[in-house]
Amino acid sequence: MGRRNKGKAVREGSSAMDVVADANGTEAMAVEGETVVAPPEPLIAAIRIEGDEGAVTPSDHTSSDYYFDSYAHFGIHEEMLKDAVRTKTYQNAIYQNRFLFKDKVVLDVGAGTGVLSLFCAKGGAKHVYAVECSTMAETAREIVKTNGFSDVVTVIKGKLEDITLPVDKVDIIISEWMGYFLLFENMLDTVLYARDKWLVPGGLVMPDKTSLYLTAIEDAEYKQEKINFWEQVYGFDMSCIKKQAMVEPLVDVVDANQIVTHAAHLKTMDISKMSTGDASFTAPFKLVATRNDFIHALVAYFDVTFSMCHKPIGFSTGPKARPTHWKQTVMYLEDVIAICEGEALTGTMTVSQNKKNPRDLDVTVTYNFKGKRSQASRTQHYRMR
Ligand SMILES: C[S@@+](CC[C@H](N)C(=O)[O-])C[C@H]1O[C@@H](n2cnc3c(N)ncnc32)[C@H](O)[C@@H]1O
Repeated sequence: MGRRNKGKAVREGSSAMDVVADANGTEAMAVEGETVVAPPEPLIAAIRIEGDEGAVTPSDHTSSDYYFDSYAHFGIHEEMLKDAVRTKTYQNAIYQNRFLFKDKVVLDVGAGTGVLSLFCAKGGAKHVYAVECSTMAETAREIVKTNGFSDVVTVIKGKLEDITLPVDKVDIIISEWMGYFLLFENMLDTVLYARDKWLVPGGLVMPDKTSLYLTAIEDAEYKQEKINFWEQVYGFDMSCIKKQAMVEPLVDVVDANQIVTHAAHLKTMDISKMSTGDASFTAPFKLVATRNDFIHALVAYFDVTFSMCHKPIGFSTGPKARPTHWKQTVMYLEDVIAICEGEALTGTMTVSQNKKNPRDLDVTVTYNFKGKRSQASRTQHYRMR
C-alpha cells in the first residue's frame, strides 16, 4: 500500500505532515461531523515570566540533553503545532467558549511551547500556570514574554508532580497528553494527579472525553515488507527479528480503503472522573466484515472531545478522518484471515502499563474466528516502546 515506515513508537522530532497549521487564519476544520471556522484573533493581554536560577539555554543543549529530554528540541513541538487538526481543535475549544475562561485560573499540564496557555490567556483566563518539565520551559517563557502576556501566564519549569503551585486551586486544567495508541507515554497519570491535587470541585478538565476504537485491515503488501521480509534476507534466515517486529505495533497512516470491517468501540474514558487504574483495561470486540477480503492486522485509533463547550468540539485520529501526527496503530496478526461479508472476528484486547517501564504499553489480543473460508484462534502480545 506504499505506507510510510514508522516502526518506533515515539513522537517524531520532525515530520512530513501533510497538514500545515495556519496560526492566524480562519481555516475550516471538520469537528464531529460539522465544520467549525476559527473566529478572528482577539487582542492580546499580558504575561508574567518567572526565571530559573542558572538555567541552561536551549542553544547550550547537547545531544545527550535531547536523548534524555525528548521534548527539549523544537522539532517535536513543530510537529505537534503543525498538526492543525490537533492544535486548531484546542484553539476552537477555547476561543469559541470564552464564557468558560472568563476570570478563571487555568493550569496547563505539559505546556511545551506554551501554545495552549497563550490560547487560554487570549481566551480571557484570569491567570494561567504553564508547567513544563523539559528545557522547552525556558523557550516557553521567552515566547510568553515576546507576545506580551507576562501578567497572565506564569511558566513553571519542573515535573508537575514535584512543583509547588502558587495557588491552592485552579478552575480549569488543560492538557494535550495523548500519546500513540492514546495511552503510550502515560502522561494521563500526570493530568489525573493535577486534577486530584488542584482542581476545584466542579472544575473543568479539557479535553474531558476520549474513546479508543479498533478495526481490521487488509495489508498483505506492507506485512510482507515489514514482517515477512525477515524470513529471507540476502539468503539468510533472520526470522528471529520477525518475532520482534510482530511484537512492536507500527504507528502509521492507514489508507481507509484497506478497512475490511466496521469499527468496534473498546473504551471511553472520562478524564474528569476516571481513576488512574481505569487506563488499564480489558475490552471485548466484535469486528463485522463489510466485504469479502483478507485481514492481516488490527488497527487502533482514538477520538477526543471537549464536551463542556457550547457545541461539543473534538477530533478523530481514525483512518477515515484527516491525518494527525498520531496516525493509527497497526498490530499485525500471525494468521491471515479470509473473511466474508457479515462474518465477525471476535476477541478481547487488554491494555496495561508495562511493569518495568510505565511509559511503555503492553497490549494483549485474543481473537477467534470461524468463517466459511478460514478459522483462527490465537493470543498475541504487543509492546509499545
Ligand atoms: C504532547 S506535549 C504538548 C505540548 C503543548 N501543550 C502543546 O500542546 O503543544 C506534552 C508536554 O508535556 C511535558 N510533560 C510530560 N510530562 C510532564 C510532567 N510530568 N510534568 C511537566 N511536564 C510534562 C513534555 O515535556 C511535553 O513538552
